[in-house]
Amino acid sequence: MEHEASNSAVAVPEQSLMERLREVRQRTLDLCTSLTAEDMMVQSCPEASPAKWHLAHTAWFFESFILSKFAPEYRVFNPDFPWLFNSYYEGFSAFPEKKLRSSFSRPGLNEVFDYRKHVDESLNRLMESGAPPAALERIELGVNHEEQHQELLLTDMLHAFYTNPLRPKYWEQGTGIRDQKNREQGSEIRDQPAALGFRQFQGGLCEIGFAGEGFCFDNELARHQVWLQPYGLADRLVTCGEYLEFIGDGGYSRPELWLSAGWAAVKTQGWRAPLYWWKEDGAKENGADEGERSVFTLRGAVPLSWMMDAPVSHISFFEADAYARWAGRRLPSEAEWEVAAEGIPVDGNLLDSWNLTPVPATNLIRNENGAKHQNENGAKHYGDCWVWTGSAYLPYPGFRPLEGALGEYNGKFMSGQMVLRGGSCVTPKKHIRASYRNFFAPETRWQFSGIRLAS
Ligand SMILES: [Fe+2]
Repeated sequence: MEHEASNSAVAVPEQSLMERLREVRQRTLDLCTSLTAEDMMVQSCPEASPAKWHLAHTAWFFESFILSKFAPEYRVFNPDFPWLFNSYYEGFSAFPEKKLRSSFSRPGLNEVFDYRKHVDESLNRLMESGAPPAALERIELGVNHEEQHQELLLTDMLHAFYTNPLRPKYWEQGTGIRDQKNREQGSEIRDQPAALGFRQFQGGLCEIGFAGEGFCFDNELARHQVWLQPYGLADRLVTCGEYLEFIGDGGYSRPELWLSAGWAAVKTQGWRAPLYWWKEDGAKENGADEGERSVFTLRGAVPLSWMMDAPVSHISFFEADAYARWAGRRLPSEAEWEVAAEGIPVDGNLLDSWNLTPVPATNLIRNENGAKHQNENGAKHYGDCWVWTGSAYLPYPGFRPLEGALGEYNGKFMSGQMVLRGGSCVTPKKHIRASYRNFFAPETRWQFSGIRLAS
């Protein structure tokens, strides 16, 4: 899903916006440095798009909604691209079926890179010549749009490599799980996850929705009052080890734990574990023994035994809901999550940490200064996995979609989807905030999605 939209004020000064634009455009290219041209053609599930398509579509967004509207001298790079790389904007043009994106062997990758360069140079010229405020607002939207596609690109590559029989690693170097392996081999000491605790909140009359300075999408507005009963919110996410207990207790074979649509999905999809868990049929390079479960990550396959204390990921809303019922708890509402986020700085295992996979709360979470992440009240609120909430994705009171085709960015998806909060290990840090609303259909599993319990 390419969720897209914005508020009406430019959040950052023009000079900073130019720097942010350059930084974000470059990062999209950086995320592709470990990929081959063939990797960038794969579309391995209905939710995913090829990396090459993400590269082109993010350029298309700037071309279609900024340059063609606000740059009088702008020359469209290729007359076919405006409809070819349109994702879902019915009010803009016709567009190809999503499943056909893997057939885009033309334009070639080099032409897509040239397209991006053409758009970047034109954006530079527009900003240097003094873009009107309306154009700057759209550029800021384009930057946030591109960050969403960076996350999607990584999520899609994880699925693409999982379906490849060779199970390639997206990223080989660095820390993350590799360090966890070395630590376990070299020491008897293994960090244990903190015992699950619940922060207590009084509830009452609270406010949610975006407020203050800065960018937000249209679906975060208007800020409004909500009434909350007293509640508790878990101070960390549910771990793989805890989820394994649910599986061991027959979680996937007990209909009383499941919503009706969830139970139907278990039966029709054959769900028995999170999306990227499987059992080895022989000893493998990743160190797992025969019959042992492995987990596929952007750093390749690792034995589940190394991931036991890391947050469980790649589960549907239905699985999160069933787990919560099994545990005698429930999923939080989006308002409960947001009120609990108040005063907690945005920090945690986000894309900038470059772990690229959920990691244990006590392990490898370091801030920019190299210190282990621990916020003031001890709660780890952002990153690792988006958390499924029990809230349906609906408009807030006073919601106003953007005018024109851009009004399709968020509003038209407000049916049949659940809200997720908090960002994941592939969400750029500058992209996430307390009021941010992600949304997916309840059976979705290809996202980095996990569980934070409420009581
Ligand atoms: Fe998009």
